[in-house]
Amino acid sequence: MRIVLGVAGGIAAYKAVLLLRLLREDGHAVRVVPTRAALEFVGRPTWEALSGEPVSTEVFDHVDEVAHVRTGQEADLVVVAPATADLLARAAAGMADDLLTATLLVARCPVLLAPAMHTEMWQHPATVANVDTLRRRGIHVLDPVSGRLTGPDTGPGRLPEPEDIAAAALALVHGRASDLVGRRVVVSAGGTREPIDPVRFIGNRSSGRQGIELARAAHERGAQVTLVAANVTLPAPPGVQVVAVESGEQLRDAVRSAAKHADVVVMAAAVADFRPVRTAAAKIKKQPGVGPTPIELVETVDILAELVRQSPREGQVVVGFAAETGDEAGDVLEHGRRKAIRKGADLLVVNAVGADRGFGVEHNEVTVLDRAGAEVARATGTKLEVAHAVWDAVLPLL
Ligand code: CTP
Repeated sequence: MRIVLGVAGGIAAYKAVLLLRLLREDGHAVRVVPTRAALEFVGRPTWEALSGEPVSTEVFDHVDEVAHVRTGQEADLVVVAPATADLLARAAAGMADDLLTATLLVARCPVLLAPAMHTEMWQHPATVANVDTLRRRGIHVLDPVSGRLTGPDTGPGRLPEPEDIAAAALALVHGRASDLVGRRVVVSAGGTREPIDPVRFIGNRSSGRQGIELARAAHERGAQVTLVAANVTLPAPPGVQVVAVESGEQLRDAVRSAAKHADVVVMAAAVADFRPVRTAAAKIKKQPGVGPTPIELVETVDILAELVRQSPREGQVVVGFAAETGDEAGDVLEHGRRKAIRKGADLLVVNAVGADRGFGVEHNEVTVLDRAGAEVARATGTKLEVAHAVWDAVLPLL
């Protein structure tokens, strides 16, 4: 995606450097368009080095390329951070006296402005009217956050954190509600491997695809996502922090550590229920005439149940998964209901698995149950569609 990052002249311009890095790390081409005043705060070399693109403030630069029109025409998204009171006023008035305001006039893609200024300026009737005008024209204007301003004073006017601006901006392009902006979520994915010896393990058929799509969906909707990936070979979605693990014990440590700061934990990983009591230090050899050595197993800690019992953070929403085949004791949903009640998670996502269902395939069909086993949602479709349906079910609980 081609993104124009506009930077107006405020002290928060330094935070736009971090925003630029995040957008680049997310895989986008970013053209930085500062105002003249912005360059008083952060110089051109910083923008050029980090974006890898030439930087200009004026409509009279690169005239042969008609830069003042093309920059806006070619953009898939325009983000301005910080947007000062002056920039909001010029944008609302439709002025085009520098490259940034000219770009704003030309752009037909989603535009997000992240204002930052002193409280008095933000609350001035002129600024209030300008923001109102811009919003009525379909421009997205974030509210500044309250907190420490440039001087010793505090109040509304601070630039939101770069992660939140990036999330809100990308959510606009993905056409999704940015309803998880400011939320931190942890998703576990894949299947654990419990070592028998240095070359063998007890594992399972989970590819991690549904967990990856849950992470992708949450990121698209604006969340900060940690993906605890157990033996996942599929590529992780861009913009998601990945912690790679192998065994159930490692997964437990990684999930619990990330969960300390999380609003939601989704346990989509297939965690082994049993592990060998001992892991042989050397490869176990077959001995002529002697049968195989039995492998003694011990139950693993149920991470989901532990999260429900002693959540590392109050008010945290915990979501479990139940992969069921159904048997003579009950069908998939009956097993799911019993598990929902037994596990006590806020939500339990039940899906049917088998040799050709659930594992590794592109599509999925799930039923989401609450802690009493009552049905809250049903979803069928790609694993990304199912993932969005799960987040839709999580939202009311936040
Ligand atoms: N889970 C976990 N820790 C374990 C085992 C499972 O956190 N040691 C989580 C999984 O990530 C999943 C949920 O528990 O979210 C359901 O796991 P499952 O293995 O299907 O349930 P079990 O309690 O093992 O029930 P059963 O073996 O009867 O199917």
